[in-house]
Amino acid sequence: MRILTGIQPSGQLHIGNYFGAIKPAVELQARGDCTYFIADYHSMTSLTDAAQRRQNSIDVALDWLACGLDPKKSVLFRQSDVPEVCELMWILGTLTPMGLLERAHSYKDKTAKGISPNFGLFAYPVLMAADILLYDANVVPVGRDQKQHVEMTRDIGIKFNSAYGETFVIPEPEIRDETAVVPGLDGQKMSKSYGNTLEIFGDETVVRKKIMSIKMDSRTPAEPKADADKNLAIQLLKLVSSTEVAADYENRLRAGGLGYGDLKKALFEHYWNFFADYRAKRADLAANLDHVHAILKDGADRARATASQVLGRARRASGLE
Ligand code: ADP
Ligand code: TRP
Repeated sequence: MRILTGIQPSGQLHIGNYFGAIKPAVELQARGDCTYFIADYHSMTSLTDAAQRRQNSIDVALDWLACGLDPKKSVLFRQSDVPEVCELMWILGTLTPMGLLERAHSYKDKTAKGISPNFGLFAYPVLMAADILLYDANVVPVGRDQKQHVEMTRDIGIKFNSAYGETFVIPEPEIRDETAVVPGLDGQKMSKSYGNTLEIFGDETVVRKKIMSIKMDSRTPAEPKADADKNLAIQLLKLVSSTEVAADYENRLRAGGLGYGDLKKALFEHYWNFFADYRAKRADLAANLDHVHAILKDGADRARATASQVLGRARRASGLE
């Protein structure tokens, strides 16, 4: 089994990225050959600060390695270190119907939010298809918001195979239902673009303040709350504490007597402890950046070996060679 996923270096990673992408990806290392990449080409659709992209790319590598990506077992590389993906994007783009791209939820959501679209944002699913097909991936672990993009990859891959003969492996998305959408601090999907995130490696004071500022309703602590399971702090606590601890807080909130301030304090403590070991590992890695650059270089070499074979297949099948 060949497993592949990418993450954009467009800002500090948050716990939605952790539960939706990194944790499943780290666990999958036990089930197959994993390829994970830093999607720096994709980040260009929303970020135009070069220094920041460079910094974010290293930060994302540190985050993944700190959270358990094993560079001996898996391939970790920066997308733009294998520019063959751009050639494949062109080839696939010529088989991608406009209507397919016009139906993309993420594109529609972004334009509806007032982001003025460029060609890159519109063509983004084609680049994502190239990312996946270039490495013969058959399993793509992503959060629910990316499911449609993987389905589009399947459509485009099938189209190529029927136009030019069997060339690409057709991938399947793997969605984690229990943590498919981690809610943000305002209750909508946690996302860098909505400014509602809880960072994995955030500064202690900043994160504490963010958690303590989560808006709750005006019911008194004593009032029983039949809707305790819908409480945002409870939902987040379920991710970063044991089932027993989360159930205990939920029951106390439901029964009445637990104040929102105490609940938020507990959420902070559990969040902070949950990532403690990763935080220590990240600090070690950050003190030895040459080692991190060497891991990325080795990853790029290994990724490129696969990419040039697969691209060669596509070039021959389509008459470019
Ligand atoms: P963002 O929305 O913050 O820009 P990305 O689009 O870069 O995040 O997402 C990176 C990965 O993390 C993707 O696999 C995505 O599905 C997953 N992901 C992002 N936000 C969430 C969330 N709130 N819940 C679950 N998974 C998420
Ligand atoms: N589009 C994905 C996101 O924003 C990142 C990504 C780029 C990706 N290429 C990919 C994920 C290929 C899986 C496979 O989250």
